[in-house]
Amino acid sequence: MYIAIITGASSGMGRKCGEILADKLRKADEIWLIARRERAMTELAHSLPKSKREKIRIIEGDLTEDAAFERISEMLSEKKPKILFLVNAAGFGKIGCTEELCEKIQSDMIRLNVEALVRLTRICLPYMADRVGRIINFASAAAFLPQPGFAVYAASKSFVLSFSEALNYELRHREISVTAVCPGPVKTEFFDLAEEFEEIALYKKLVIAKPEKVVKKALRDSVRRRPVSVYGISMKGLRIISRILPHRLVFKVMSAADKKDRRQ
Ligand SMILES: NC(=O)c1ccc[n+]([C@@H]2O[C@H](COP(=O)([O-])OP(=O)(O)OC[C@H]3O[C@@H](n4cnc5c(N)ncnc54)[C@H](OP(=O)(O)O)[C@@H]3O)[C@@H](O)[C@H]2O)c1
Repeated sequence: MYIAIITGASSGMGRKCGEILADKLRKADEIWLIARRERAMTELAHSLPKSKREKIRIIEGDLTEDAAFERISEMLSEKKPKILFLVNAAGFGKIGCTEELCEKIQSDMIRLNVEALVRLTRICLPYMADRVGRIINFASAAAFLPQPGFAVYAASKSFVLSFSEALNYELRHREISVTAVCPGPVKTEFFDLAEEFEEIALYKKLVIAKPEKVVKKALRDSVRRRPVSVYGISMKGLRIISRILPHRLVFKVMSAADKKDRRQ
């Protein structure tokens, strides 16, 4: 039995991945959707034609808790599927300085963005289909350089980028490829949570992307076995700048742009 597994499938880019893979991945017998909000995933299933809807398996679970992993492990060992796509899209970020954000929010960000992603990947590895299997990990353009005011989130995404590139190399003997997706701001529910205490800079809102465009590029890049997927010219530019310029200089430019935006 061939399957695809998608976390963060109740919203935003994970949901979009679920829709596209359920529609286009003909070889998959089942598409496993994972998130806490069961109703949102049921709505996704109902938005699909009947033949595709029947493939959907909904796994309601909190990926910061052991129970979700125990359930997924049991399902995998019972069905022994071959995984064509594993998409790790569950993640969240809170904008705010480290000394102001509460400790629980910071550790939850690390648990979901880092620990859950590694844990699920590790659980799935024995079942990944050799030669054709693809892993897509949602990092962020925030992975390219440290981000004062979004420090823990950016660091968690640097982890995802580093881990994904290394794993991609480790898995080459099985011809399984890993793609780290590194978008800039994308119009999803992400900002409902991220901006609870502080808004993102206005200049970031100017480059906000549509989720379907980021996801389509991510899936294309994954099929082409690209280790990193970056959508849009501005984020490609940021990636280059972050490698050339000293980070302190980039921080100064970003903070000046932020202050100018707030004065306008
Ligand atoms: N939007 C952006 O600007 C942006 C930019 C760069 C990178 N990213 C990254 O892209 C990925 C997708 O983000 P998005 O923009 O699509 O955000 P989103 O619309 O807020 O979706 C986040 C998903 O994560 C799930 N999730 C959150 N906490 C969870 C938990 N404890 N257990 C299980 N699932 C959980 C949510 O489902 P439930 O609430 O139902 O559990 C939801 O399906 C994230 O990793 C994010 O960091 C986003």
